[in-house]
Formats: sequence, C-alpha cells, structure tokens
Amino acid sequence: MSEHAQAAATMEPLFNPLSPEFICDPYPHYERLRRTDPVHITAHGMYLASRHAEVSLVLRDKRFGKDFVERSKRRYGSKIMEEPIFRSMSHWMLQQDPPDHTRLRGLVVKAFTARRVEDMRPRIQEVVDQTIDRVAERGHMDLIEDFAFRLPVTIICDMLGIPEEHREAFYTGSRDGGRILDPVPLTPAEIAQGNAGNLMAQMYFQQLFELRRKNPGDDLTTQLVQAEEDGSKLSTEELTANIILLFGAGHETTVNLIGNGLLALHRNPDQLALLKANPALIVNAIEEFLRYDSSVQLTGRVALEDIDGLADKNIPKGETVLCLLGSANRDPAVYPDRPDRLDITRQNVRPLSFGGGIHFCLGAQLARIEAEIAISTLLRRLPELRLDDAENPEWRPTFVLRGLKRLPASW
Ligand code: HEM
Repeated sequence: MSEHAQAAATMEPLFNPLSPEFICDPYPHYERLRRTDPVHITAHGMYLASRHAEVSLVLRDKRFGKDFVERSKRRYGSKIMEEPIFRSMSHWMLQQDPPDHTRLRGLVVKAFTARRVEDMRPRIQEVVDQTIDRVAERGHMDLIEDFAFRLPVTIICDMLGIPEEHREAFYTGSRDGGRILDPVPLTPAEIAQGNAGNLMAQMYFQQLFELRRKNPGDDLTTQLVQAEEDGSKLSTEELTANIILLFGAGHETTVNLIGNGLLALHRNPDQLALLKANPALIVNAIEEFLRYDSSVQLTGRVALEDIDGLADKNIPKGETVLCLLGSANRDPAVYPDRPDRLDITRQNVRPLSFGGGIHFCLGAQLARIEAEIAISTLLRRLPELRLDDAENPEWRPTFVLRGLKRLPASW
C-alpha cells in the first residue's frame, strides 16, 4: 500500500497540528507531507504547502495577500469582527495588505535597521549579564523563565518606553495567548480568552500613551503617539493594535529561538563542544538554530486570484494557503546534506523562519543579536551547565509558536 493510502486507511490525518505527538516532534510529519502531498488540503479545507519551493513562492508572490477581514468572516461569519481580539488583529501590519501595510510598516521600520540594532549590543549584553548574575549562585534555573524570557521582554520594554516599575508584571505574566494564531478553528472559550487578554493589553497601553503624551521619550510609543496626533498617519485603533503586536512579536518568538537553540545544542553534544571551542561559530549557529527548529512554524496567505498549479493543486481565489516554514527549512531539495541534522558549520543556511516578501520579519536582526549574545554568554559564564532532562522537554501546546514550557538546567 502506498504511504498516502496507508494514512487514509488508518484515518490518521497527515496534518494534525495540535496532537501532542505532532507538537513534540512535527518533523517526521513534515517529511511525509513533502514526499506524499506537498500542497495538502487539510481537514479544515486549507491548502498546506510544505516544500521550500512553494512556501517561498507564496510568501513573495503578489497574487497572494493577507485579506484578514474577509478570510476571518468566511471562516467564522461576519459577526467575528465584533470580537475585540479580531478587531485588534485586523489592524496589525502583519495582517494588512498594501497600501495600509506599507504605511504602518513605514512608521516603525527605522527603529529596526541593522545599524540601530547593532547599537543595542551593549544594552543586550548588560541585560544578559544581569540575568545570569541573578541566578549564578543558585546552581539551578529554568532556562525559559529565568533566562530566555527576560531578555526579549526587557529589550522590547526599552524600545516601547515601558517604565521599569511597570515591568515585573510582564516578567511573571501568563503566556497563553499563542493559541489565537493556530490554524484550527477557535472555540468560543478560546476567543473569549483572547478578548480578555487583548482588553487587558489595551487598558495598559492606553495608560502608557497618556504617559508618553505628557512625557515624550526616545521610544517607539512616543513616535507612534505623535504620528497618531498628526491625524493622517495612524488611527487610534491602529496605534493600540500595532503596539500590542510589537510587544508580543518582540518576545514570544525570541524566547523560543533561545530555548529551542539551547535544547538543540544540548541534544547534540558534539555541536555544543564545537561551539564552546570556537565561539566565533555563534553567528552561523544562530542561522542553523532558526533552520533546525524554528520558533515560528507557519504563516498563511490568501489567494487574491485563482492560482493554477501550486505543485499539483489549483487554488481558487479566496482560499488560504498555509506555509510550513519549519518544513521548508528541512527540505532536502535546498539542504541536501542531512537536513534533519544540527550542523552549526553548515554553509548557505537561509532559513525561512522570518518569512519572506513584504512581511519579512521586522525584528529579524534584533532577534538574531539577542540570541547570539544570550547563548554565547551563557556558554562562557556557566560552562558546566547541563539540562536536567534533554530527552523529555515539555512543549507549549501551541503550533505556530513552537517553544518550551520550561527547560530546567543545573551547573
Ligand atoms: C526568532 C524570532 C522571530 C521570529 C522567528 C519571527 C518570525 C516572523 C515571521 C515569520 C514573520 C512574517 C509573518 C508573515 O509573513 O506572515 C514576522 C513578522 C513580524 N515580526 Fe517577527 N519574528 C521574530 C522576532 C521578532 C521581533 C524581536 C520583533 C520585534 C521587536 C518582531 C516583529 C515582527 C513584526 C512587527 C512583523 C510584521 C511585519 C510585517 O507585517 O510587515 N519579530 N516575524
């Protein structure tokens, strides 16, 4: 029996992103998708691209866009846009098409240029050192909560001008929002939870806007509040939504780059030893961590016109194509030398983990530098550090955002 027929016979779906087994290790499933059905129609009627060629094309081709409002209405009915979380997301630059996307991205892009981010190195180093100072005597920590999480939160708080005395709540707050991004229908309870989180964030950021109107600073919030006051550049809803996006995107992903990278290194002791012996390999190692176990696994686009021949499928206008970034990153057509192996010396690593095309991640360079400084400083300052259980880590139950709940380590 062919593998396709076998899967059908056992009724096991090729793509079941919330099954614990899939979350734990999606890669054998990706391999099967790429090999047997590279543009697969999911149980929810979406087209799932798993090869590098199609993923890369869909992200960059202008015949695809976000079409967020219409897409959401098609899936949930027109009342969905009355839900605060959906209203808010509809204003994210991440969910917008040109010309609104171009306008919103243009307002913040300067804060993320390679030069500006390079200038942040000393501050990033300081935060990493302080984080290690807090735990060095203990001999034990959770690498997620005590280490990986604190850096990106602190840096995005700096960038948004969030005062020091407000930050503790962000370090200790719950991180349950990720489910809203997953490519399966949300239950009313999940939408209600999304609304509650969104309303809390709106309340906080409105206070911050007041503060920055009275006391302008050299930060992104001040910059956007001023653009909003100007009237023509940004509406109040867009201001709030995009600050929430920047805050979330600024840490939920980078924490997992650091966490997944540290896990991959400790599961491959030869690579860990190699990096310790050659610290300069860290820059290439970060690209390899991004490729090997991406902290964002998937993003989507909508066909803005009928598309013929995406692999063996025709995509009718209005249909959603899900792009499996984590699968494209292990496609042997692009990485012929054992793509399932972690190899920090691999050449020509160009992961799709930051997306591609007009939505290419705004924070890519920032995330790279944060991870580079975090991981290399940890290896240098706590060289004896070992994971308590590298073989059975606890994954968060979300699919788009791939990361660990905790990663206990001792030294
Ligand atoms: C490892 C860390 C990160 C990963 C893997 C990641 C991944 C991504 C991906 C895949 C996209 C594009 C989604 C699409 O095409 O639909 C994206 C967009 C975006 N990212 Fe990141 N991101 C990371 C870190 C950051 C950081 C640190 C920030 C900000 C401080 C950030 C802000 C954004 C924003 C604002 C967008 C939307 C850009 C647009 O729509 O034009 N990201 N990110």
